[in-house]
Amino acid sequence: MQISLTERALGTLDCDALLVTFTGGELPSSLKTLDETMGGQISRLMKAGRLSAERGAMSEIFTPEDVGPVRVVLLGLGEQELDPVQLRDACADALRGLSCRGMERIAVDLSAVQTQARALVEGLLLGAYRFRGYADEQKPGVNLLLLGSVDGSPLPGSVEEAVRQGEISGRAVIAARDLVNEPGNRLTPSAFAERASDMASERDLSCTVFDEHDLKEMGMGLLLGVSAGSAEPPRLIELRYECGHDAPTLVLAGKGLTFDSGGISLKSRENMGAMKMDMGGGAAVFGAMQVLADLRPGMNVVGLICASENLPDGRAQKPGDVVQACNGMTVEIISTDAEGRLVLADVLADAVGRLSPDWIVDVATLTGSASVALGDQAAALVSDNDDLAGAIERAAAASGEKVWRLPAYSEYAEALKSDVADLKNSGGKTAGTIKGGLFIRAFAGGLPWAHLDIAGVAWTDRDKGIHSKGGTGYAVRTLAALPDAMMT
Ligand code: BES
Ligand code: MN
Ligand code: ZN
Repeated sequence: MQISLTERALGTLDCDALLVTFTGGELPSSLKTLDETMGGQISRLMKAGRLSAERGAMSEIFTPEDVGPVRVVLLGLGEQELDPVQLRDACADALRGLSCRGMERIAVDLSAVQTQARALVEGLLLGAYRFRGYADEQKPGVNLLLLGSVDGSPLPGSVEEAVRQGEISGRAVIAARDLVNEPGNRLTPSAFAERASDMASERDLSCTVFDEHDLKEMGMGLLLGVSAGSAEPPRLIELRYECGHDAPTLVLAGKGLTFDSGGISLKSRENMGAMKMDMGGGAAVFGAMQVLADLRPGMNVVGLICASENLPDGRAQKPGDVVQACNGMTVEIISTDAEGRLVLADVLADAVGRLSPDWIVDVATLTGSASVALGDQAAALVSDNDDLAGAIERAAAASGEKVWRLPAYSEYAEALKSDVADLKNSGGKTAGTIKGGLFIRAFAGGLPWAHLDIAGVAWTDRDKGIHSKGGTGYAVRTLAALPDAMMT
């Protein structure tokens, strides 16, 4: 998809549709000249009450042959100005509709939504998104977005920067979705690492990949234990953004299980294929680092993605095994399906020792319990640090993604005590999301830490608003907003 902001009058440009939003039943004045060219057709329909101003309503008016756009699509945004979440969703639904009908070149009038151009661009990009896939036949869809005003009247200078930010953030969410949607046989841990190093090499971001030999030397027994049953070697991917001056460091750690079969504690066969999405946390870190490299906040950020498969074979770890993390702590395996916390524990322990960060935030599709508790509407936040949790809540409010904090009572951690090791990796059926978080906390070295469980939100089965079927790219925008939220 190509996006360009133009000073030319959109009403004269050759395109499949000119999308014009309007609020409160009033058409933007930028439509006046085009309306005159069309013999006052648009304003007549408006007066006759034939153009619905309801939120999400689309009215389509075909233009005469000599007019650039084939049609004008009027998108109602309701009576009052929408908040950014509603605007993103409305624009996304509109674009999805046009794209599904095979339209390729869309012009969008920004004059009525100048102050919300960032949300608008995010909505347009995300609504038009679809995973390319591997079918021979490719359906046509939107591939060009021309942004500006219908009559070429100048937009405020701030619009350009807002469009740039919207494009950076939208594209990063798309990159994360592409990773999540990629089949497990194609996005192996090493392929994930290659994607990360390609992404980093295109920007001011450094990428280091630790392979299975490095991980062995580093003593990462929990990560290696999880990958032991797989023929694909694991990778620890490190993406580093440096802000260029003496500044504190935030670590973002993402669970990157490119496929989770459950291991010896094998999952049931129904829907097991969905577990290719178990690297959604890693994809969120990938996307967030992509945004941060372009928007350059005043804080150092290190993104860590632990990429592994979890499969059962003769070498796989077994319930009852005891494994050792790189900081020396031992863990009794109760369920090989509680693997996310194991890989993250090792990664956090390594980060604490090697990077001495100031804060650690991990993000993972960690527990089915997160969707039992919150459904598909919010990520679960677990943290014992009110400042960091508050910053994440502010970042989520800014991005429009929902997070809901669960209590990190230390009493819950008692369920993780083992008779034979420092900890066990599962603490029974209740409060699963909290216990999963508290397990990881035990490896954060007492640093300010927070955990986002995105198991309920990283994948969706329906097209709605900014989310299209498949990977959602959830948490990319919240994590990308976090450094700024922490500094305010
Ligand atoms: N990847 C799963 C969690 C998951 C479930 C993500 C559904 C997305 C959708 C995770 O590794 C897992 O298997 N968790 C177990 C933990 C249990 C064994 C303590 C779970 O939720 O059942
Ligand atoms: Mn699992
Ligand atoms: Zn998993």
